[in-house]
Amino acid sequence: MRAGKTMAEQAKNGKNQEPLVVGRLHKSFGSQKVLNGVDLSVARGETVVVLGRSGTGKSVLLKLLVGLQQPDSGSIRIHGQDIGGLGMDQLNEVRKKIGFLFQQAALYDSLTVEQNVEFPLVRHTTLSDAERGKKARDLLASLGMEKDLNKMPSDISGGMQKRVGLARALALDPDILLFDEPTSGLDPITAAEIGQLIVKLKKERNLTSVVVTHDVHGAKSFADRMVLLRDGKVVIDGTFVQLEKSPDPFVVQFLKDAA
Ligand SMILES: Nc1ncnc2c1ncn2[C@@H]1O[C@H](COP(=O)(O)OP(=O)(O)OP(=O)(O)O)[C@@H](O)[C@H]1O
Ligand SMILES: [Mg+2]
Repeated sequence: MRAGKTMAEQAKNGKNQEPLVVGRLHKSFGSQKVLNGVDLSVARGETVVVLGRSGTGKSVLLKLLVGLQQPDSGSIRIHGQDIGGLGMDQLNEVRKKIGFLFQQAALYDSLTVEQNVEFPLVRHTTLSDAERGKKARDLLASLGMEKDLNKMPSDISGGMQKRVGLARALALDPDILLFDEPTSGLDPITAAEIGQLIVKLKKERNLTSVVVTHDVHGAKSFADRMVLLRDGKVVIDGTFVQLEKSPDPFVVQFLKDAA
């Protein structure tokens, strides 16, 4: 935030700003330091993949980006607006523009597929029942789920659950999408399909995305850039080709293990 700029000015100018800029982010839980000065910037329409061993803080990073957890220090700017200074109502406004696909699809067990996708529309829009239903069905159809509208989450496969989670994340027409392990636990063909969906969303909606994944090679099909975390810091930030060329022993070993 530039000194002297009010929150309203920032919001007004926001559309011209980088969608996502993170600076010097720190987060600890008790004595455990998880993020130790993470910097990350994502341009409009860009898909950035976040890599790192289990427990390095990838999910924590995504949760900080949507204000589900608070950083100890550092800044998070969404379209130029520093979310650290926002009250609950303002934060909710920002969140509406960010779709979040959770690591476990996190669907509501007692709601049907269609009702799950309608849920954010019920909470955050004034659409009529008919309009909500149509929007949910259109989204599900675009993800190949038009035959499963009335099924319960427990009666569909893991890959289908991810698609429903994705449809729900898209319901409010976000301009930023955060994916936490969108392909984990899926067979290679379904994982590749989810990868194609990410590419399709980028092409059709110019969405800005951050994708956390262990699947480095699968991510090559949709990543504009890859960011590797280690000990709470970014080890490398570049294209896959740049990662492959890196002499850093940690990067070399990470790619070897992922092969
Ligand atoms: N709410 C919390 N309270 C205490 N510790 C937490 C909390 N959330 C995360 N952690 C810790 O922070 C560390 C990073 O967790 P995180 O879930 O971000 O890892 P990850 O990189 O997403 O791992 P994975 O690849 O297995 O999903 C872990 O040691 C975890 O136990
Ligand atoms: Mg995780």
